[in-house]
Amino acid sequence: ELQAFIFDLDGVITDTAEYHFLAWKQLGEELGIKIDREFNERLKGVSRLESLNRILALNNRETNFSLEEKEFLATKKNEHYKELIQQVTPNDLLPGIHSLLANIKSNHYKIGLASASKNAPAVIEKLQIGNFFDTIVDAATVKRSKPDPEVFLKAAEQMNVTAEACIGIEDAEAGIESIKAAGMFAVAVGTNEALRKKADMTVERTNQLKLNELIKSFQMYN
Ligand code: BG6
Ligand code: MG
Repeated sequence: ELQAFIFDLDGVITDTAEYHFLAWKQLGEELGIKIDREFNERLKGVSRLESLNRILALNNRETNFSLEEKEFLATKKNEHYKELIQQVTPNDLLPGIHSLLANIKSNHYKIGLASASKNAPAVIEKLQIGNFFDTIVDAATVKRSKPDPEVFLKAAEQMNVTAEACIGIEDAEAGIESIKAAGMFAVAVGTNEALRKKADMTVERTNQLKLNELIKSFQMYN
């Protein structure tokens, strides 16, 4: 029986996926590495350091830097990112998300957040939606990043529900893999084919996430 919804943050609740992209692009320019939107799909849901490794690998430069230098570069990206998220307000919730959260809550399901970002608590605060969440699990509190299931499993555990009773919602391939590895029903938001193929249900945009349809698909699957 369905008991909880676990949301990814960047790219599902708000469009910070775009800010991560812009921040990496800026760092890339400083390093002479060009990052386009197609390549960026492979960075979604991926941890800060692993993202940097993938970017450096584009120019076969992942072995040119020590861990210390990589940490310096990753921090630089994060400075760009933190500057960009200063402008986030409740108006930046993606279409339909506020009413979906309110609808889930008034139907007495639990709501969790499973984010790969260490900036998740700051973004949630800027969006002023902290009150909707029964638990918030972010990158700072898990050992293994997506596609490992840890972050989704921890959110379920903290809400006292089993994995089979959860619906996970993601915009990243690594995230859908994480949800499936956790044994949950996976909903993909986006048009990327590789992403959609791995999910149990897909929508193109957040305003197509409707509570009754999510419940229906979950029940048909189970
Ligand atoms: C994920 C984003 O939510 O968090 C990734 O999809 C990002 O793009 C990752 O790299 C880590 O975020 P942060 O804020 O800890 O650098
Ligand atoms: Mg995401």
